[in-house]
Amino acid sequence: MQIVSTIAAARETRARLDGTLGFVPTMGFLHEGHLSLVRRAQEECDAVAVSIFVNPTQFAPDEDLNRYPRALERDLSLLREAGVSLVFTPDAGEIYPPGFDTSIDVGEVSRPLEGAFRPGHFSGVATVVAKLFNIIQPTKAFFGQKDAQQCAVISKLVTDLNIPVEVVVCDIVRNEKGLALSSRNSYLSKSEQERALLLHDSLGKAEGHIAAGERNASTIRALIGDILSKDADFCVDYISVADPHTLTELENIDDEALISLAVRVGATRLIDNVVVRKK
Ligand code: PAF
Repeated sequence: MQIVSTIAAARETRARLDGTLGFVPTMGFLHEGHLSLVRRAQEECDAVAVSIFVNPTQFAPDEDLNRYPRALERDLSLLREAGVSLVFTPDAGEIYPPGFDTSIDVGEVSRPLEGAFRPGHFSGVATVVAKLFNIIQPTKAFFGQKDAQQCAVISKLVTDLNIPVEVVVCDIVRNEKGLALSSRNSYLSKSEQERALLLHDSLGKAEGHIAAGERNASTIRALIGDILSKDADFCVDYISVADPHTLTELENIDDEALISLAVRVGATRLIDNVVVRKK
């Protein structure tokens, strides 16, 4: 496994990899969700590259950039064990040298939901992902469905800018109780982890109602809101029933819908979602 931290070394190492290259961009503190992306990339490609970069431009000034969990040595040993070929671990100065002054605005799909609650977030994500794609030049890139809007934003970025990378969206990985894996789960106390299960429960109940014939999106939003209101310490940022590609809110659930939510559980902001499709 080659570990490189400069763009020049990443390009050189990449050039020596034959065949198709799968790429998993990460911010480190790897968990089973990331490793499942690596395994999927290995199934579909000849070699796999992973980046570990806590991207400062996707954090607002009041967010958790400085306390974002980091465990580089542990991450590297997990990736070595997994059989990854290339790990790119740049520092912020390598990605954003003095004078760097470009940012990508992916437009309407980046505005609602996370975009509304985290202004500038998706511009930071789109810009760094475009740079990483240019540096690593992967055949396919693998992202987790947990960040559903991020997947929609990156798919739009790739389409609109004709970036020759296939975006592969992989299923959410959950712990045995149903909590969607996230590096930020490490902020949760034991009791918060238990209470956070209500997020997945509420999505499951919504799915059940839709499977039983409910088509009204407002009814589904209200159902989830009622369930989440059972925990007085939850602060709900949004509950959305939207088109999975455009993120436009739906009135009726016809063919498919992305049901997503963001909830602050104590000091930790969690997101989760489910996609429902007409059988
Ligand atoms: O999902 C993430 O970890 C990040 O948003 C990404 C895609 C690595 C860009 O910094």
